[in-house]
Amino acid sequence: MSDQAHTGKADIGVLGLAVMGANLARNAARKGFGVALFNRNHERTDKLMAEHGSEGRFHPAKTIEEFVAALAKPRAIIIMVKAGKPVDDMIEDLIGQLEPDDIIIDGGNSLFTDTARRFKRCRDANIRFIGMGISGGEEGALEGPSMMPGGERSAYDRIAPMVTKMAVSVDGTPCCTYIGPEGAGHYVKMVHNGIEYADMQLITEAYDLMKTLYGLDAAAMADIFTDWKAGDLDSYLIEITAAVLRKVDGTGKPLIDAIVDEAEQKGTGRWTAQNALELGVPVTAITEAVFARALSGRRGMRGEAEKKLPHPAVSTRKPSPEEINAIRDALYASKIIAYAQGFEQMTVAAQTFGWDLHLGEIATIWRGGCIIRARFLNRIREAYDRDPKLSNLLLDDYFRDAVVKAEEAWRRVIVLAVENGVAVPAFSSSLAYYDGLRRARGPANLLQGLRDYFGAHTYRRLDKEGSFHTRWGQDGSEIEA
Ligand code: 6PG
Repeated sequence: MSDQAHTGKADIGVLGLAVMGANLARNAARKGFGVALFNRNHERTDKLMAEHGSEGRFHPAKTIEEFVAALAKPRAIIIMVKAGKPVDDMIEDLIGQLEPDDIIIDGGNSLFTDTARRFKRCRDANIRFIGMGISGGEEGALEGPSMMPGGERSAYDRIAPMVTKMAVSVDGTPCCTYIGPEGAGHYVKMVHNGIEYADMQLITEAYDLMKTLYGLDAAAMADIFTDWKAGDLDSYLIEITAAVLRKVDGTGKPLIDAIVDEAEQKGTGRWTAQNALELGVPVTAITEAVFARALSGRRGMRGEAEKKLPHPAVSTRKPSPEEINAIRDALYASKIIAYAQGFEQMTVAAQTFGWDLHLGEIATIWRGGCIIRARFLNRIREAYDRDPKLSNLLLDDYFRDAVVKAEEAWRRVIVLAVENGVAVPAFSSSLAYYDGLRRARGPANLLQGLRDYFGAHTYRRLDKEGSFHTRWGQDGSEIEA
């Protein structure tokens, strides 16, 4: 397991000891690996050693040289610094110190195209590079995250015995698997985060409906989310929603009512939406979630608009259990759509970038450790077991049946939201996607007619092969040749 017994050297290095890096280093040490530590500001290293030095075999280093010298060869170094330029700077520093076949692993939330560039930069310097998405927040990093490594297969094989032990296991299977070459690991982590955005937005819309239509208070909603956790919606995000809603702060009132309604973002959800637009994949739930955060950020404008723009009168009334169940069903159906879209995005990315992504395995490693961990991921894994080439989750019987079962409630809830002026962009765009998807013949024939009219862009016909153009007259009549 460990090279340390033979060489006295560390098995793995962690560079960058802010909370995520420090917790990952402690995780590796607790699993029995020798861990070299380095942070530019040595105080963090001292703090880690003072507080947790007894948890395992740590090799704290004061300089990069000392850090590199502490590692068994070929060296494996996880860098945990802020995404962007700090990662490039760190790679350049390391390249000067490392030897051929050593491995640099970027464990941050890097943009996958940056990872592809860094992979090539390292390859040119005879260094192997792995871009590894790590999900699970601070607690996951310590107790066992979900890990999505991408890069050269041989480099992954070298680190696999360590990272599969550091990752959490579900039913005996580690939540870590080789994803694919170059930026594939960070790509999949990006889509994970996009889905995380959509999932959270959908929960937020359910909360808004219960609060605005039915006037439920935080404690009542916490109970409802706790109930939902016992069913199909069972997930970490539903569990922590109940915890956040239940929290009472020092004022004796629910904390949630004191939190400013402006959501921040670091960029991974936006990247997912941008990439979906580039690939031409209809990923509406994630994109609406990004826009909803942007609208939340316009707090001043919203304050002004509330005063100026009329709002439908909402007559708050006590909900029946059926009405609460309808919101639950609408949430579940919309969630299925969000995941179907995210998984289709990965299918198209795999084709576009020439990656052999195993979507069933990706669902498997998202069952534990990560932010979107949920019972639901087992259903996705089973769908890909049934058909590894499944083009859309909604074409799988389980998901089709689940959506069909929820459909009536889903529509009813959205109608209610629209009538009462409650914004449910992710619920309603998910339903619009569903309604668009389940029609063999949509209305884009008219778009083609219009494009042909003003731009001679041509159209295809149902009854004949080929490309056609109508010579439109000013009054719309066809000009005879
Ligand atoms: C995870 C999280 C993690 C981080 C998000 C937050 O998987 O552990 O996704 O990576 O908390 O990036 O993203 P925003 O700040 O953009 O919400």
